[in-house]
Amino acid sequence: MGKNNWEAVDKYLDKFVLDEDPILEQVLTANKDADLPPIDVTPTQGQFLTIICTITGAKSILEIGTLGGYSTICLARGVGADGKVVTLEKSPKHAEVASKNLEHAGLRDRVDIKIGSALESLMSIQQLSPKPTFDLFFIDADKENNPKYFDTALQLSHPGSVIIVDNVIREGSFLSDSNDPNDIGTKQLLETVRNYDNLKTTVIQTVGGKGWDGFLMATVY
Ligand code: SAH
Ligand code: DHB
Ligand code: MG
Repeated sequence: MGKNNWEAVDKYLDKFVLDEDPILEQVLTANKDADLPPIDVTPTQGQFLTIICTITGAKSILEIGTLGGYSTICLARGVGADGKVVTLEKSPKHAEVASKNLEHAGLRDRVDIKIGSALESLMSIQQLSPKPTFDLFFIDADKENNPKYFDTALQLSHPGSVIIVDNVIREGSFLSDSNDPNDIGTKQLLETVRNYDNLKTTVIQTVGGKGWDGFLMATVY
């Protein structure tokens, strides 16, 4: 058993469990045509994000790391017509592709794409008066800044908010003493989270079409 089987099982689940989704399929085609890296959440993970929105009743979401908007669409579906997603993306090209994909999905009006370094966008959001809060966060950009993204998310949260961080396992590479900034970011994130006493946190390892990885999920008290 190994990676090939994980991929085969995910392919099966995509067809057997999920409904056909021409919109998300078109997103992947558009992303490929624009040479975006294929690092979107997988279809079953995307559906998981939509379900989490539904379960929590989240109406305001902050996403960090838009890429072509695959996960953004899943979140925007989850918040419903009266919900809003703010998504942060440093690459104007990625943001442009995402904007078109969201338009095509009929969801552009519930999504605000903020172009620029996420740390800078987060600072401007924090300076808004009144300071907004978000019901759910999906952190999925450069992994080395995850500790800072997490801290800022907490500052923009309220009791009951949910914070999800993608790619916190990356084949467990953070266990070896590597100098990879992504691994350092992951270790610091786990330390950061451990030091708060107003959180209930879990990390779920995953296998599938994108290999062995996992996500962190925390609720705020
Ligand atoms: N959430 C997307 C995938 C995001 S990939 C999905 O699942 O569909 C990570 C994205 O984060 C890339 O588009 C990259 O350009 C962006 N990114 C990387 N560093 C960033 C930074 N410092 N600020 C904002 N965005 C950043
Ligand atoms: C990478 C980033 C992601 O958000 C992801 O889900 C997978 C890989 C990356 O930067 O390699
Ligand atoms: Mg990711």
